[in-house]
Amino acid sequence: MKGGGGGGGGYLYNKHGLKMKQLSLFFIIFVCASLVLWNWDKTPHLTALLPPDDQPLHLFPVEVERKQDTRVKPEAEQAPPSLSTDFNTPQTSHLENTKLLVDNSISEPKDLSETAKQQSVTSQRTESTVIDTPMAKAETKACNFGKGKWVPADNRPLYSGFGCKQWLSGMWACRLTQRTDFGYEKLKWQPKDCKMDDFTGAEFLKRMQDKTLAFVGDSLGRQQFQSLMCMVTGGEEMPDVEDVGKDFGLAKAQGSARPDGWAYRFPTTNTTILYYWSASLCDIEPIDPTSETTDYAMHLDRPPAFLKHFLDRIHVLVLNTGHHWNRGKLNANRWVMYVGGKPNTNRRIADIGGAKNFTIHSVVRWVNAELPKHPGLKAFLRSISPRHFFNGEWNTGGTCDSTSPGSLEVLQDESSDPVAASAVKGTDVKLLDITGLSLVREEGHISRYSIRAAPGMQDCLHWCLPGVPDTWNEVLFAQI
Ligand SMILES: *[C@@H]1O[C@H](CO)[C@@H](O)[C@H](O)[C@H]1NC(C)=O
Ligand SMILES: *[C@@H]1O[C@H](CO)[C@@H](O)[C@H](O)[C@H]1NC(C)=O
Repeated sequence: MKGGGGGGGGYLYNKHGLKMKQLSLFFIIFVCASLVLWNWDKTPHLTALLPPDDQPLHLFPVEVERKQDTRVKPEAEQAPPSLSTDFNTPQTSHLENTKLLVDNSISEPKDLSETAKQQSVTSQRTESTVIDTPMAKAETKACNFGKGKWVPADNRPLYSGFGCKQWLSGMWACRLTQRTDFGYEKLKWQPKDCKMDDFTGAEFLKRMQDKTLAFVGDSLGRQQFQSLMCMVTGGEEMPDVEDVGKDFGLAKAQGSARPDGWAYRFPTTNTTILYYWSASLCDIEPIDPTSETTDYAMHLDRPPAFLKHFLDRIHVLVLNTGHHWNRGKLNANRWVMYVGGKPNTNRRIADIGGAKNFTIHSVVRWVNAELPKHPGLKAFLRSISPRHFFNGEWNTGGTCDSTSPGSLEVLQDESSDPVAASAVKGTDVKLLDITGLSLVREEGHISRYSIRAAPGMQDCLHWCLPGVPDTWNEVLFAQI
């Protein structure tokens, strides 16, 4: 029994002993193997041979996300045709942008690791450039006025919103409304890497002696025009400033609510500032001039006729477009897309975003080709002015109630308007890049105080004046 028991016990013991020994052996091998691998991993020259798989996971989603987050989404196609002149399809809110982005970064790890590799290559190059030729780098790097921060400033605004009655539309003068918060008037833009002289009307007029500055674009261009008139005059009444609209064919046509633009001349320096309404920056022509109900050809590949006529007389040109590129507006205006003098058949252009991109590229290319013939001309494409409809669209209760900026800083290098940036790339037309710096100023819109908006509707597209568009002019002033 004992033996049997012992034998049994011994057997069991031996069996267990064997098992334990095997397990111990496995364990020791496992630990050794782990140590070897761990050391391998820690050895830099070995790791360097391995693909940097882990990098994108830790570093780049954050990078990519921050960059894309502030980009303005291409405008959506759908908008009801009933809307009046200036409200239309709002951009998707920031929150939705962010969400889209997160989805992207999760579903496209391959792209991210590609980006990672490219970026590490770029940063290596940059480093070696810095070490080898620091001066060369400083010289070639153009100043980026779009990167910087908003700072409180006692000497802002540059004119009073109670004044400037001669130029400022009542609907944009928020001081004349029920609004009670005016912190948005007291911020000044400070570019990070460049000096920006303070704007003065006298200095502006001096630089623009015997010259003409023209804004050509939509109602956001008109805001910039009114802003500049107020900045130059300091908001003071100036009876000697001449209305020279007639010189530029800008007379109010019979039956229309307003002329196609305005032009004013400052007699002391013979400086003209004008605005011409061209919402799409292309040539618009009645298809049947004899018919009152004609459709209009929207020649996407031709500049506005006004520009062709008057470019000779313009010294600083500021173009803008963006908020009229939606089906609702096109249908309401009875605009039909034409390319090459014929109705467009190209499906890529037929898409609203494609048409806008095509038109912006076309007009910039045209202006660029004209530059050699006009040596005194400086041409700018102003990037898109962002809108801020939260919790809805312009017509579904979207609001912009905030009384403080979303952020005070813009850190990214690239423009938040990729369409405009790509259009000027490789040309001598400059980008007046105001998208990013305006994107953080959600509190600067007219909001619920618009006297134009129907009850319950807010204007989160146009800006209070004085306000954000003044800064666009300061940034412009720094570049002329
Ligand atoms: C005013 O400036 C224009 C150019 O913009 C020039 O053609 C014109 O001769 C100037 N007028 C005077 C009186 O100097
Ligand atoms: C915009 O238009 C340009 C010129 O027609 C073209 O090269 C580019 O690919 C277009 N970009 C987009 C996003 O459609």
